[in-house]
Amino acid sequence: MKTYNIGIIGTGYIAQTMAEALAFVPQARLHAVGSRNSETAKDFAAKYNCLGYSSYEAVAADPEVDIVYISTPHNLHCENTLMCIAKGKHVLCEKPFAVNAMEVDLMINAARAKGVFLMEALWTRFNPRIIAAKEVLDSKRLGKIKLLKGDFGLRIPAAENSRHHNKSLIGGSVMDLGIYPLFLAQLLMGKPKTITATAGIGPTGVDTNCSVTLGYADDALAVIYSSILAHTDCNASVYCENGDLLFDKWVHLPEKVTIVPLNENPETLEVETIDNCYNYEVEEVIKCIEQGKTQSDLWSWDDSKLLIETLDEIRRQIGLEYEGHDNIN
Ligand SMILES: NC(=O)c1ccc[n+]([C@@H]2O[C@H](COP(=O)([O-])OP(=O)(O)OC[C@H]3O[C@@H](n4cnc5c(N)ncnc54)[C@H](OP(=O)(O)O)[C@@H]3O)[C@@H](O)[C@H]2O)c1
Repeated sequence: MKTYNIGIIGTGYIAQTMAEALAFVPQARLHAVGSRNSETAKDFAAKYNCLGYSSYEAVAADPEVDIVYISTPHNLHCENTLMCIAKGKHVLCEKPFAVNAMEVDLMINAARAKGVFLMEALWTRFNPRIIAAKEVLDSKRLGKIKLLKGDFGLRIPAAENSRHHNKSLIGGSVMDLGIYPLFLAQLLMGKPKTITATAGIGPTGVDTNCSVTLGYADDALAVIYSSILAHTDCNASVYCENGDLLFDKWVHLPEKVTIVPLNENPETLEVETIDNCYNYEVEEVIKCIEQGKTQSDLWSWDDSKLLIETLDEIRRQIGLEYEGHDNIN
Protein backbone atom coordinates (compact mmCIF):
# COMPACT_ATOMS: atom_id res chain seq x y z
CA MET A 1 0.00 0.00 0.00
CA LYS A 2 1.58 3.27 -1.15
CA THR A 3 1.82 6.14 1.29
CA TYR A 4 1.27 9.60 -0.17
CA ASN A 5 3.35 12.53 1.03
CA ILE A 6 1.23 15.58 1.70
CA GLY A 7 2.53 19.13 1.55
CA ILE A 8 0.49 21.91 3.13
CA ILE A 9 0.62 25.51 1.95
CA GLY A 10 -0.34 27.98 4.71
CA THR A 11 -0.28 27.41 8.45
CA GLY A 12 -3.57 28.86 9.74
CA TYR A 13 -6.65 27.38 11.36
CA ILE A 14 -7.58 24.92 8.65
CA ALA A 15 -3.98 23.89 7.91
CA GLN A 16 -3.66 22.78 11.55
CA THR A 17 -7.03 21.03 11.46
CA MET A 18 -5.92 19.15 8.35
CA ALA A 19 -2.56 18.26 9.89
CA GLU A 20 -4.48 16.61 12.73
CA ALA A 21 -6.86 14.82 10.34
CA LEU A 22 -4.02 13.33 8.29
CA ALA A 23 -3.13 11.10 11.22
CA PHE A 24 -6.42 9.29 10.53
CA VAL A 25 -5.69 8.60 6.86
CA PRO A 26 -3.66 5.39 6.65
CA GLN A 27 -2.22 6.18 3.20
CA ALA A 28 -1.33 9.82 3.93
CA ARG A 29 1.70 11.24 5.67
CA LEU A 30 2.31 14.90 6.38
CA HIS A 31 5.69 15.56 4.75
CA ALA A 32 6.13 19.34 4.67
CA VAL A 33 4.50 22.68 5.30
CA GLY A 34 5.18 26.01 3.64
CA SER A 35 4.74 29.41 5.21
CA ARG A 36 5.55 33.00 4.28
CA ASN A 37 7.39 33.19 7.56
CA SER A 38 10.29 30.91 8.56
CA GLU A 39 9.47 31.01 12.29
CA THR A 40 5.85 30.05 11.63
CA ALA A 41 7.02 27.22 9.37
CA LYS A 42 9.42 26.01 12.04
CA ASP A 43 6.76 26.04 14.78
CA PHE A 44 4.22 24.21 12.61
CA ALA A 45 6.82 21.65 11.52
CA ALA A 46 7.83 20.99 15.13
CA LYS A 47 4.21 20.62 16.26
CA TYR A 48 3.20 18.25 13.45
CA ASN A 49 6.51 16.51 12.88
CA CYS A 50 7.18 17.48 9.27
CA LEU A 51 9.58 19.62 7.25
CA GLY A 52 9.00 23.38 7.44
CA TYR A 53 9.75 25.55 4.42
CA SER A 54 9.85 29.33 4.50
CA SER A 55 8.05 29.63 1.16
CA TYR A 56 5.13 28.05 -0.65
CA GLU A 57 7.33 27.49 -3.71
CA ALA A 58 9.57 25.14 -1.74
CA VAL A 59 6.63 22.81 -1.03
CA ALA A 60 5.73 22.72 -4.72
CA ALA A 61 9.36 22.10 -5.66
CA ASP A 62 9.94 19.25 -3.18
CA PRO A 63 10.14 16.06 -5.29
CA GLU A 64 8.97 14.00 -2.31
CA VAL A 65 5.59 15.77 -2.15
CA ASP A 66 2.79 13.91 -3.95
CA ILE A 67 -0.26 16.00 -3.03
CA VAL A 68 -0.44 19.65 -2.00
CA TYR A 69 -3.24 20.89 0.24
CA ILE A 70 -3.78 24.62 -0.25
CA SER A 71 -5.08 26.38 2.83
CA THR A 72 -4.36 30.01 2.06
CA PRO A 73 -6.98 32.80 1.85
CA HIS A 74 -9.29 32.81 -1.16
CA ASN A 75 -7.30 35.39 -3.14
CA LEU A 76 -4.35 32.96 -3.40
CA HIS A 77 -6.14 29.75 -4.33
CA CYS A 78 -5.72 30.08 -8.08
CA GLU A 79 -2.14 31.33 -7.97
CA ASN A 80 -1.04 28.64 -5.47
CA THR A 81 -2.83 25.88 -7.36
CA LEU A 82 -1.28 26.85 -10.70
CA MET A 83 2.17 26.91 -9.11
CA CYS A 84 1.73 23.39 -7.70
CA ILE A 85 0.26 21.96 -10.89
CA ALA A 86 3.16 23.41 -12.89
CA LYS A 87 5.47 21.34 -10.67
CA GLY A 88 3.40 18.22 -11.39
CA LYS A 89 1.67 18.01 -8.00
CA HIS A 90 -1.81 16.72 -7.32
CA VAL A 91 -3.81 19.46 -5.60
CA LEU A 92 -6.56 19.65 -3.00
CA CYS A 93 -7.48 23.34 -2.74
CA GLU A 94 -9.71 24.89 -0.08
CA LYS A 95 -13.13 26.37 -0.82
CA PRO A 96 -14.16 28.49 -2.59
CA PHE A 97 -12.02 26.89 -5.30
CA ALA A 98 -11.03 30.36 -6.52
CA VAL A 99 -12.47 33.87 -6.71
CA ASN A 100 -14.49 33.39 -9.89
CA ALA A 101 -15.25 31.00 -12.75
CA MET A 102 -12.46 32.46 -14.87
CA GLU A 103 -9.86 31.46 -12.27
CA VAL A 104 -11.46 28.03 -11.81
CA ASP A 105 -11.19 27.48 -15.58
CA LEU A 106 -7.47 28.29 -15.46
CA MET A 107 -6.97 25.75 -12.68
CA ILE A 108 -8.98 23.01 -14.39
CA ASN A 109 -7.27 23.58 -17.73
CA ALA A 110 -3.86 23.44 -16.08
CA ALA A 111 -4.69 20.16 -14.30
CA ARG A 112 -6.07 18.69 -17.50
CA ALA A 113 -2.96 19.68 -19.47
CA LYS A 114 -0.59 18.31 -16.84
CA GLY A 115 -2.64 15.19 -16.12
CA VAL A 116 -2.69 15.72 -12.36
CA PHE A 117 -5.53 15.32 -9.88
CA LEU A 118 -7.32 18.49 -8.76
CA MET A 119 -10.23 18.91 -6.37
CA GLU A 120 -11.93 21.66 -4.38
CA ALA A 121 -11.72 20.78 -0.69
CA LEU A 122 -15.47 20.77 -0.19
CA TRP A 123 -15.10 18.38 2.71
CA THR A 124 -18.83 18.25 3.49
CA ARG A 125 -19.38 16.25 0.28
CA PHE A 126 -17.36 13.37 1.68
CA ASN A 127 -18.93 13.30 5.14
CA PRO A 128 -20.61 9.88 5.55
CA ARG A 129 -23.73 11.53 7.03
CA ILE A 130 -24.12 13.69 3.93
CA ILE A 131 -23.59 10.66 1.68
CA ALA A 132 -26.22 8.68 3.62
CA ALA A 133 -28.68 11.59 3.60
CA LYS A 134 -28.30 11.98 -0.16
CA GLU A 135 -29.03 8.27 -0.57
CA VAL A 136 -32.29 8.70 1.39
CA LEU A 137 -33.33 11.60 -0.82
CA ASP A 138 -32.24 9.83 -4.02
CA SER A 139 -34.30 6.77 -3.01
CA LYS A 140 -37.43 8.98 -3.38
CA ARG A 141 -38.77 7.60 -0.11
CA LEU A 142 -39.61 11.20 0.84
CA GLY A 143 -40.63 12.17 -2.67
CA LYS A 144 -39.44 15.23 -4.51
CA ILE A 145 -37.77 18.13 -2.71
CA LYS A 146 -40.13 21.09 -2.57
CA LEU A 147 -38.22 23.52 -0.37
CA LEU A 148 -34.76 23.66 1.14
CA LYS A 149 -33.72 26.10 3.82
CA GLY A 150 -30.07 26.44 4.74
CA ASP A 151 -28.12 29.05 6.65
CA PHE A 152 -24.65 29.68 7.97
CA GLY A 153 -24.01 32.75 10.07
CA LEU A 154 -21.24 33.41 12.57
CA ARG A 155 -20.73 36.62 14.54
CA ILE A 156 -17.22 37.58 13.46
CA PRO A 157 -16.01 40.91 14.86
CA ALA A 158 -14.57 43.18 12.19
CA ALA A 159 -12.34 44.76 14.81
CA GLU A 160 -10.19 41.63 14.87
CA ASN A 161 -9.33 42.33 11.22
CA SER A 162 -10.39 38.80 10.26
CA ARG A 163 -10.02 37.59 6.71
CA HIS A 164 -13.84 37.34 6.66
CA HIS A 165 -14.15 41.15 6.63
CA ASN A 166 -11.08 41.72 4.47
CA LYS A 167 -11.94 42.47 0.87
CA SER A 168 -8.46 41.92 -0.53
CA LEU A 169 -8.50 38.42 1.00
CA ILE A 170 -11.88 37.88 -0.73
CA GLY A 171 -13.86 38.03 2.48
CA GLY A 172 -17.63 38.23 2.84
CA SER A 173 -20.31 35.95 4.19
CA VAL A 174 -21.36 34.26 0.98
CA MET A 175 -17.92 33.23 -0.30
CA ASP A 176 -16.88 31.91 3.10
CA LEU A 177 -20.03 30.57 4.78
CA GLY A 178 -22.95 30.80 2.36
CA ILE A 179 -21.04 28.49 0.08
CA TYR A 180 -21.99 25.54 2.32
CA PRO A 181 -25.80 25.77 2.07
CA LEU A 182 -25.36 26.71 -1.61
CA PHE A 183 -23.31 23.55 -2.05
CA LEU A 184 -26.01 21.51 -0.29
CA ALA A 185 -28.72 22.93 -2.53
CA GLN A 186 -26.61 22.14 -5.60
CA LEU A 187 -25.87 18.62 -4.38
CA LEU A 188 -29.50 17.81 -3.65
CA MET A 189 -31.38 19.94 -6.19
CA GLY A 190 -28.93 20.47 -9.05
CA LYS A 191 -28.52 23.55 -11.21
CA PRO A 192 -30.97 26.32 -10.33
CA LYS A 193 -33.14 27.88 -13.00
CA THR A 194 -33.13 31.23 -11.24
CA ILE A 195 -30.91 32.99 -8.71
CA THR A 196 -32.08 36.00 -6.70
CA ALA A 197 -29.68 37.55 -4.21
CA THR A 198 -29.62 40.51 -1.91
CA ALA A 199 -26.98 41.56 0.59
CA GLY A 200 -25.87 44.11 3.11
CA ILE A 201 -22.43 45.43 2.27
CA GLY A 202 -20.41 46.42 5.34
CA PRO A 203 -17.84 49.17 5.88
CA THR A 204 -14.98 47.02 4.57
CA GLY A 205 -16.81 46.50 1.29
CA VAL A 206 -17.78 42.84 1.68
CA ASP A 207 -21.23 41.32 2.18
CA THR A 208 -21.87 40.98 5.88
CA ASN A 209 -25.35 39.50 5.36
CA CYS A 210 -26.48 37.78 2.20
CA SER A 211 -29.69 36.02 1.23
CA VAL A 212 -30.14 33.93 -1.87
CA THR A 213 -33.20 32.24 -3.31
CA LEU A 214 -32.63 29.56 -5.91
CA GLY A 215 -35.52 28.53 -8.13
CA TYR A 216 -36.03 25.06 -9.62
CA ALA A 217 -38.60 23.19 -11.70
CA ASP A 218 -42.11 22.63 -10.29
CA ASP A 219 -41.95 25.68 -8.01
CA ALA A 220 -39.25 24.17 -5.80
CA LEU A 221 -37.04 26.68 -4.00
CA ALA A 222 -33.85 26.77 -1.94
CA VAL A 223 -33.76 29.67 0.51
CA ILE A 224 -30.30 30.37 1.82
CA TYR A 225 -28.69 33.02 3.97
CA SER A 226 -25.28 33.71 5.41
CA SER A 227 -23.90 36.23 7.84
CA ILE A 228 -20.71 37.40 9.49
CA LEU A 229 -22.73 39.72 11.76
CA ALA A 230 -25.10 37.25 13.40
CA HIS A 231 -24.87 33.75 14.76
CA THR A 232 -27.67 31.88 13.02
CA ASP A 233 -29.04 28.33 13.34
CA CYS A 234 -26.37 27.04 10.92
CA ASN A 235 -28.52 24.11 9.86
CA ALA A 236 -30.53 22.92 6.89
CA SER A 237 -34.02 21.50 6.41
CA VAL A 238 -35.16 19.72 3.29
CA TYR A 239 -38.94 19.65 2.94
CA CYS A 240 -40.18 16.98 0.55
CA GLU A 241 -43.53 15.69 -0.76
CA ASN A 242 -43.73 12.84 1.77
CA GLY A 243 -41.71 14.15 4.68
CA ASP A 244 -38.65 16.10 5.68
CA LEU A 245 -34.94 15.59 6.19
CA LEU A 246 -33.33 17.75 8.85
CA PHE A 247 -29.61 18.45 9.01
CA ASP A 248 -29.02 19.46 12.57
CA LYS A 249 -26.20 21.81 13.42
CA TRP A 250 -24.00 22.19 11.46
CA VAL A 251 -24.94 22.64 7.84
CA HIS A 252 -21.33 21.88 6.84
CA LEU A 253 -20.79 19.16 9.45
CA PRO A 254 -24.13 17.65 10.44
CA GLU A 255 -23.95 16.12 13.89
CA LYS A 256 -27.38 14.59 13.46
CA VAL A 257 -29.59 13.92 10.45
CA THR A 258 -33.27 13.20 11.12
CA ILE A 259 -35.77 11.71 8.69
CA VAL A 260 -39.31 12.85 9.44
CA PRO A 261 -41.68 10.90 7.17
CA LEU A 262 -45.30 12.14 7.01
CA ASN A 263 -47.45 10.45 9.69
CA GLU A 264 -44.55 8.34 10.96
CA ASN A 265 -42.14 8.71 13.87
CA PRO A 266 -38.93 10.64 13.22
CA GLU A 267 -35.88 8.49 12.65
CA THR A 268 -32.26 9.41 13.24
CA LEU A 269 -29.93 8.47 10.43
CA GLU A 270 -27.33 6.46 12.33
CA VAL A 271 -23.92 7.08 10.77
CA GLU A 272 -20.67 7.02 12.69
CA THR A 273 -17.87 9.37 11.70
CA ILE A 274 -14.26 9.44 12.82
CA ASP A 275 -11.98 12.31 13.80
CA ASN A 276 -12.77 15.83 12.62
CA CYS A 277 -14.08 14.57 9.24
CA TYR A 278 -11.38 16.27 7.13
CA ASN A 279 -9.88 12.79 6.69
CA TYR A 280 -12.65 11.80 4.26
CA GLU A 281 -11.75 14.28 1.52
CA VAL A 282 -8.11 13.18 1.65
CA GLU A 283 -9.17 9.55 1.38
CA GLU A 284 -11.16 10.50 -1.72
CA VAL A 285 -8.14 12.24 -3.28
CA ILE A 286 -5.93 9.21 -2.73
CA LYS A 287 -8.60 6.79 -3.95
CA CYS A 288 -9.00 8.77 -7.18
CA ILE A 289 -5.24 9.06 -7.75
CA GLU A 290 -4.88 5.29 -7.26
CA GLN A 291 -7.62 4.80 -9.87
CA GLY A 292 -5.76 7.06 -12.30
CA LYS A 293 -8.41 9.77 -12.17
CA THR A 294 -7.74 13.50 -12.39
CA GLN A 295 -11.03 14.46 -10.77
CA SER A 296 -13.52 13.01 -8.32
CA ASP A 297 -16.94 11.71 -9.36
CA LEU A 298 -18.32 12.87 -6.00
CA TRP A 299 -17.16 16.48 -6.42
CA SER A 300 -16.09 16.95 -10.02
CA TRP A 301 -14.65 19.91 -11.89
CA ASP A 302 -18.11 20.55 -13.32
CA ASP A 303 -19.55 20.60 -9.80
CA SER A 304 -16.99 23.17 -8.69
CA LYS A 305 -17.57 25.15 -11.87
CA LEU A 306 -21.32 25.30 -11.30
CA LEU A 307 -20.88 26.38 -7.70
CA ILE A 308 -18.49 29.21 -8.57
CA GLU A 309 -20.79 30.31 -11.41
CA THR A 310 -23.62 30.55 -8.88
CA LEU A 311 -21.36 32.60 -6.60
CA ASP A 312 -20.37 34.82 -9.56
CA GLU A 313 -24.04 35.50 -10.30
CA ILE A 314 -24.82 36.22 -6.65
CA ARG A 315 -21.93 38.68 -6.50
CA ARG A 316 -23.02 40.30 -9.74
CA GLN A 317 -26.47 40.88 -8.27
CA ILE A 318 -25.22 42.23 -4.93
CA GLY A 319 -22.58 44.39 -6.62
CA LEU A 320 -19.58 42.77 -4.97
CA GLU A 321 -16.55 42.94 -7.22
CA TYR A 322 -13.09 41.87 -6.08
CA GLU A 323 -10.48 44.15 -7.56
CA GLY A 324 -7.62 42.38 -9.27
CA HIS A 325 -9.68 39.24 -9.88
CA ASP A 326 -13.02 40.20 -11.39
CA ASN A 327 -14.25 41.68 -14.56
CA ILE A 328 -17.83 40.67 -14.01
CA ASN A 329 -19.86 43.79 -14.75
N1 LIG B 1 -13.15 23.41 5.03
C1 LIG B 1 -13.37 24.10 6.12
O1 LIG B 1 -14.07 23.68 7.04
C2 LIG B 1 -12.72 25.42 6.29
C3 LIG B 1 -12.70 26.03 7.52
C4 LIG B 1 -12.01 27.22 7.64
C5 LIG B 1 -11.40 27.78 6.53
N2 LIG B 1 -11.50 27.16 5.34
C6 LIG B 1 -10.86 27.73 4.15
O2 LIG B 1 -9.44 27.59 4.32
C7 LIG B 1 -8.75 28.73 3.84
C8 LIG B 1 -7.95 29.35 4.97
O3 LIG B 1 -8.80 29.65 6.04
P1 LIG B 1 -8.26 29.72 7.56
O4 LIG B 1 -9.45 29.91 8.41
O5 LIG B 1 -7.34 28.60 7.84
O6 LIG B 1 -7.47 31.09 7.49
P2 LIG B 1 -6.27 31.59 8.40
O7 LIG B 1 -6.35 30.95 9.75
O8 LIG B 1 -6.27 33.05 8.31
O9 LIG B 1 -4.99 30.99 7.69
C9 LIG B 1 -4.64 31.34 6.37
C10 LIG B 1 -3.16 31.10 6.17
O10 LIG B 1 -2.84 31.52 4.86
C11 LIG B 1 -1.57 32.13 4.83
N3 LIG B 1 -1.66 33.47 4.21
C12 LIG B 1 -1.11 33.83 3.02
N4 LIG B 1 -1.35 35.10 2.74
C13 LIG B 1 -2.07 35.59 3.76
C14 LIG B 1 -2.57 36.88 4.05
N5 LIG B 1 -2.43 37.92 3.22
N6 LIG B 1 -3.25 37.05 5.20
C15 LIG B 1 -3.44 36.01 6.04
N7 LIG B 1 -2.96 34.77 5.83
C16 LIG B 1 -2.27 34.55 4.70
C17 LIG B 1 -1.08 32.21 6.26
O11 LIG B 1 -0.09 31.22 6.43
P3 LIG B 1 1.47 31.63 6.49
O12 LIG B 1 1.54 32.90 7.26
O13 LIG B 1 2.06 30.49 7.22
O14 LIG B 1 1.95 31.77 5.10
C18 LIG B 1 -2.29 31.90 7.10
O15 LIG B 1 -1.96 31.18 8.26
C19 LIG B 1 -9.86 29.62 3.25
O16 LIG B 1 -9.99 29.30 1.90
C20 LIG B 1 -11.12 29.19 3.98
O17 LIG B 1 -12.31 29.41 3.26
C21 LIG B 1 -12.12 25.99 5.20
